[in-house]
Amino acid sequence: MCGIIGCVGRGEETVETLLSGLSTLEYRGYDSAGIALANGSLDVVKKQGELDALEQVVATTTLSGSVGIGHTRWSTHGPPSDRNAHPHTDTEGNVAVVHNGIIENYQELRDELEREGVVFTSDTDSEVVPHLMARSLHEGASPREAFRDAISQLEGSYAIAAVVAGADTIFAVRQDSPLVLGIDDDAYYLASDVPAFLEYTRDVVYLEDGQFAELRADGWTVFDHEGDETTPTVDTVEWSAEQTGKSGYDHFMLKEINEQPTALRQCLSGRVDEVSGGVTVDELDDLDTPSAVQFVACGTSYHAALYATTLLHEVGIPANAYLASEYATTHPPLPNDTLVVGITQSGETADTLSALRNAESRGAETLALTNVVGSSAARECDHALYLRAGPEIGVAATKTFSSQLVGVNLLVERLRPSGSPTGELRSLIAGLRDLPGHVQQVLDDSTALEIVDELFGAEAFFFIGRGLHYPVALEGALKFKEITYEHAEGFAAGELKHGPLALVTENTPVFAIVTGDDEEARKTLGNIKEVEARGAPVVAVTDGKAEVERYADYVLEIPETHERTSPVLANVQLQLVAYHMAARLGRSIDKPRNLAKSVTVE
Ligand code: AGP
Repeated sequence: MCGIIGCVGRGEETVETLLSGLSTLEYRGYDSAGIALANGSLDVVKKQGELDALEQVVATTTLSGSVGIGHTRWSTHGPPSDRNAHPHTDTEGNVAVVHNGIIENYQELRDELEREGVVFTSDTDSEVVPHLMARSLHEGASPREAFRDAISQLEGSYAIAAVVAGADTIFAVRQDSPLVLGIDDDAYYLASDVPAFLEYTRDVVYLEDGQFAELRADGWTVFDHEGDETTPTVDTVEWSAEQTGKSGYDHFMLKEINEQPTALRQCLSGRVDEVSGGVTVDELDDLDTPSAVQFVACGTSYHAALYATTLLHEVGIPANAYLASEYATTHPPLPNDTLVVGITQSGETADTLSALRNAESRGAETLALTNVVGSSAARECDHALYLRAGPEIGVAATKTFSSQLVGVNLLVERLRPSGSPTGELRSLIAGLRDLPGHVQQVLDDSTALEIVDELFGAEAFFFIGRGLHYPVALEGALKFKEITYEHAEGFAAGELKHGPLALVTENTPVFAIVTGDDEEARKTLGNIKEVEARGAPVVAVTDGKAEVERYADYVLEIPETHERTSPVLANVQLQLVAYHMAARLGRSIDKPRNLAKSVTVE
């Protein structure tokens, strides 16, 4: 939700650095964008629309200064427009501010400032900040004091960066919204996310809530909430700048779909041992087997949580999956020794963080299953299990979902109460070992593209699955609607006859996931026959064992594998279907309308 960037020390390359950072952060919001450069005065340019609209204006403008901030917006207060684009300034144009988050008491502050004669020029909550700073500056405060004074009046969540005309410093603060510093030899950066400056440095400082930072040409300083200087740890991130490019693919989503074999290898590396037949997760050495597990997650990550609960039931641990946004309001009891696991690729999703904090405040042990080292979830939870999928830029989660399913397997085997039965574990490990190669086989199959041609123009698209394939049906539908904007729904196969079957016609293709030839598969076959009888085109995603070909109009094949790994393969086929349909419809695949990658507001 909104991306912010700042840099000092880049000299004549300041504008280019800000724009390139914003292009990496565009996944966080793309309603409008803007930059501000401080010199003796301030130069501010902002524009509604995606970043290229801003770039066109910048190309025709002379900007100077080597201290700069930038912003890419996902609207919360006020529609996308030039006037609501950041940076926001005070009346005299001496202070420019970019903000990610929500200032909850902004109306009160705005009323107060308006009573004093301030004229607001936007509908945003953020605009109160430059006006508060300007008021302090007029009263004789230094830029640093003015920034601190303004921040002390805010309630809510925010990552804020500000520049002041005549001061060669970026002032920044973090409270419940991500903000990380990048430290190079002679240049310093700040951003909502590391990839924004990865091209220049891999040395980072993750700000804590309540901390302030100052970036100057001659150095950087971090202060605690009381204004005392701190000595923060400088971490080195493992991601590289190359990983954050499109590498010749048309879209990040397609690149990330194709990166899945590598992502899965990385996730498994050093964690499963075929020879001894064991699972080792170093990060979880000090984790005891809990009496119960509760998962909190949103969107795609929630689907991984649903999959995870079934696995935990198989090993005898009671488990529930909660939509993170519903967790606190449904008051789930927390029996002693319950482990609460937040599944979140970004580690910054506000709903998930809020649910984890709720559980933590009630005494639960918490664990983050996340892809982002140093993310809020990773730092706030008692334990963190990293997915190691590499950066995911496309708004639609793909490789991180596959990695979550694998990560969940590692977690479950780590938690299995009485040690894993050797034969069972060996067969799972074989399935996991083969998974990257099997995913590659699916990626090499062009059937999804052909099926999209056949089904183009249908009225709605349904996805059904049973057991471990039910979360995949939900995920298939989410991915499809998210990037095609077509109506898509996922159902538990057995639920069709309890209502959704009324929607099924010859113009509503049904994607049915069915693998193996057990009782579960036979029941899903029955459901396939039900929709076929209503004339719906049926696309079976199958390993072929259930002889579904007889009832299906189209078949998306997946290799035969372990029952826990086949959902990963089925999902890859559905990712390809969604991608090709969206491409054929000409949709904005990496930046679907109204969405953002990292949802940092509740
Ligand atoms: C997935 O394609 C979506 N973009 C979305 O549902 C996402 O999974 C959700 O917002 C949760 O994000 P997280 O994993 O970063 O917490």
